[in-house]
Amino acid sequence: MTDQEVPVLTIDGPSGAGKGTVSRLIARRLGWHFLDSGAIYRALAWAVQARGIPADDERAVARVAAEMALEFKCDDGVQVWVDGEEVTRCLYTEECGRMASRIAAFPKVRRALLEKQRAFRQPPGLVADGRDMGTVVFPDAPFKVFLDASLGERARRRFLQLKSQGLDVNLDQIIKDLEQRDRRDRERKEAPLIPAEDAVVIDSSEMSVEEVTEKILALLPRKLKAPPGATDSR
Ligand code: DC
Repeated sequence: MTDQEVPVLTIDGPSGAGKGTVSRLIARRLGWHFLDSGAIYRALAWAVQARGIPADDERAVARVAAEMALEFKCDDGVQVWVDGEEVTRCLYTEECGRMASRIAAFPKVRRALLEKQRAFRQPPGLVADGRDMGTVVFPDAPFKVFLDASLGERARRRFLQLKSQGLDVNLDQIIKDLEQRDRRDRERKEAPLIPAEDAVVIDSSEMSVEEVTEKILALLPRKLKAPPGATDSR
C-alpha cells in the first residue's frame, strides 16, 4: 500500500466541538492511527517558550518547528515528547492553547509542520484531528468531517472538563477565550478553519459523543470498519 492509498478520515472543527474525544474513539474502533495535530502546534508553543524565543518571530519559530524532534504515543491518551523530554502535561493549559493558536497563524510555521503531519499516514489508516486536515494536510482524504457546535455549548463542555480537573474556572472567561481563538483560527490567511468543500458538516451541539461517533462511522464503507483479526458484530 503506498502512502496515498492509506485511507484517511479527517475531522476538523473549532475548539471544544468534541473532535479530540470522537477522533480517538473512532481510531480505536477502526484500529487506525490517530493524529492530534493541535498537540503538534501545542508542542511547538512549548518548545518556543522553553527556548526563550519571542512568539512573534516567525522565522525563529519556524526554525524550531523544523528542528524539534517530536515523538507521539497514542494509546488511551496522547503522550508527547519534544527533544526527548515528556511535555504532555504542559500542553493542555489554556495558555499553551492560546500561544499555539498565535504561532499557528504563521505560514512558514505551517509549512515546516506539513510533512511531520503527513508522516502519520500509515497503514491500515489514519484519523486526523485538527483545523486544516481536510483542506491542506490531507486534501485527497476520502472521508472528511467538519464537526461544529454552538459557542455556548463548546464553552460549557470546556468549563466542565476543566472543573473536573480541579481547576478554578470562570465560564465568561472561557467564552471570551474561545471567541478570540475562533476568530484567529477562522480569519488567518494561511489554512483558515473552514470546512473542506467535500466535508460532511455535523453540528454536535445537541448530540452525545456516542451519537457523533456512530454518525461518522456510518460514513465509512463496511469493509473498513473491521480491523484485521476483528469480527464486526454490528
Ligand atoms: O485543537 P487544539 O485546541 O489542541 O489546537 C490548538 C491550536 O493549534 C488551535 O487554536 C489552532 C492550532 N491548530 C491549527 O492551526 N491547525 C491544526 N490543524 C490544529 C491546531
